[in-house]
Amino acid sequence: MAVTCAKLLRTVCPKFLLANRSACLTAPAFLPSRRQNFLQYQKKRFCSSVPRLKKETVTLTFLMPDGERIETPAKVGDNLLDVVIENDVDIDGFGACEGTLACSTCHLILKPEHYAQLPEPPTDEELDMLDLAFDLQDTSRLGCQVVVTKNMEGWEVRVPAGVADAREPS
Ligand code: FES
Repeated sequence: MAVTCAKLLRTVCPKFLLANRSACLTAPAFLPSRRQNFLQYQKKRFCSSVPRLKKETVTLTFLMPDGERIETPAKVGDNLLDVVIENDVDIDGFGACEGTLACSTCHLILKPEHYAQLPEPPTDEELDMLDLAFDLQDTSRLGCQVVVTKNMEGWEVRVPAGVADAREPS
């Protein structure tokens, strides 16, 4: 790019070029290189005065089969599988397929009033997988398919007493 600009300058105004040769032929004088742009971007990016984007969180409570209540922060936009993993909630076999909708081990049970407030109903694929879940209820969902929203503050989610992995032959 610098070469092209120098050529252009030479063609358009040779006198100017001769008078300002050293200044004109160094790219930074008139056109920052891609590397310089990148370095400037990096400087801005890591500048401590620029606040980092922080995800909003709500508090969820997991009701464990043994009666224990585990309160966790949950980032808005994450799914309930992410919340369980990020907060080390100890649920045996949970999320075995890592959210690929192939196992039903992330089965969770919501309160009816909360279930009704979920923005998205379960897809046919989720319903198929839920059919194989242990202790299926009317308000069952797969945790990997439920995205945390702002209105979930204080919600309680019940963890079923058992896990059925749809990938394992019965
Ligand atoms: S983690 Fe396997 S279906 Fe949700």
